[in-house]
Amino acid sequence: MPDELPHTSSDELVPAPSSDELTRASSPRELTRASSPDELADAASRDEHVHASARDQLTHASSPRELASSRDELVRASSAGELVCAESVTKVFRTRAGEVRAVDDVSLTVHRGETLGLVGESGSGKSTVARLMMGLQPCTSGRVVFDGKDLGRLPARELRVLRPRMQMVFQNPYGSLLPHFSAIGNVMEPLRLHDRGDKASRRTRALELLDLVGINTHNAELYPRQFSGGQQQRIAIARALALEPDLLVCDEPTSSLDVSIQAQILELFTDLRNRLGLSMLFISHNLAVVERLADRVAVMNKGRVVEESPTEALFHAPKDNYTRQLLSAVLPVRQQ
Ligand SMILES: Nc1ncnc2c1ncn2[C@@H]1O[C@H](COP(=O)(O)OP(=O)(O)O)[C@@H](O)[C@H]1O
Ligand SMILES: [Mg+2]
Repeated sequence: MPDELPHTSSDELVPAPSSDELTRASSPRELTRASSPDELADAASRDEHVHASARDQLTHASSPRELASSRDELVRASSAGELVCAESVTKVFRTRAGEVRAVDDVSLTVHRGETLGLVGESGSGKSTVARLMMGLQPCTSGRVVFDGKDLGRLPARELRVLRPRMQMVFQNPYGSLLPHFSAIGNVMEPLRLHDRGDKASRRTRALELLDLVGINTHNAELYPRQFSGGQQQRIAIARALALEPDLLVCDEPTSSLDVSIQAQILELFTDLRNRLGLSMLFISHNLAVVERLADRVAVMNKGRVVEESPTEALFHAPKDNYTRQLLSAVLPVRQQ
């Protein structure tokens, strides 16, 4: 029984949710996008990672100070290195009610080793930017360049090769996990689909990843419904890391969680960023959530980026009126 098992992370195991909770938990769009075999199978061979050796060093650095200074070095060393750039990107959806300009002339860059926060209220276009930057949807105009390659012009085969290098973490962890696969099965699945190693090595790797994200490996064979929301998100993060992506796009990854659990997951992202030297696009509807994590923050309103500043500057001297409004919406997570 799950609740007899020892726990490692402080978010507790919970009884299986009712079918009603499950229905509410998973938006079909997220389910389709995150867990379909097509999406997971959407790649072929392995790419060499530009910062693999820097990452190895980071993984082996031990003290927090060592980690922080290794990361600073990585960010400095790669400050010229643009990993992904959206260049004057616009996305117009044609609906029965007319055209929706979801993203309007947005330019954003995520440098290697950097975390870019993207904030703005619901409907401001953040998730659309995320999908465009992942090459999951075509731009109406403008372009997205990932590691020097224009995603809109890449043949499908080359896009599939790039896919493992960009991974997403969604708002709803339960909806993004395969419900009939155990925790370890979920983490092993992308490795299997991408033909990485044999079964035994995939198992070992998945256990390492579960351990890295704070899941007690004794619980590895349990199913997603047997974990709490916070733990489900940890498993989803382990799965996103399995293919050693260069870019992690996190779309409101803490928004469905209780405030205390939000703080723990933010802590986990901070730790992973420092250890692995990941580049992240971290999306939230609230500025306070990205304050701890982001090096720079872009603020969106009605499809446009209204301000983009280093995190510290944005919090101490916001330039835009809309940013000031967002800042005044106090989030408990900021007060902890
Ligand atoms: N597939 C779609 N078809 C039509 N409109 C869409 C689609 N996706 C998003 N939108 C619209 O684009 C706008 C921005 O949505 P979204 O990117 O999801 O914003 P956010 O993530 O900031 O809440 C909204 O008005 C939304 O209704
Ligand atoms: Mg969204």
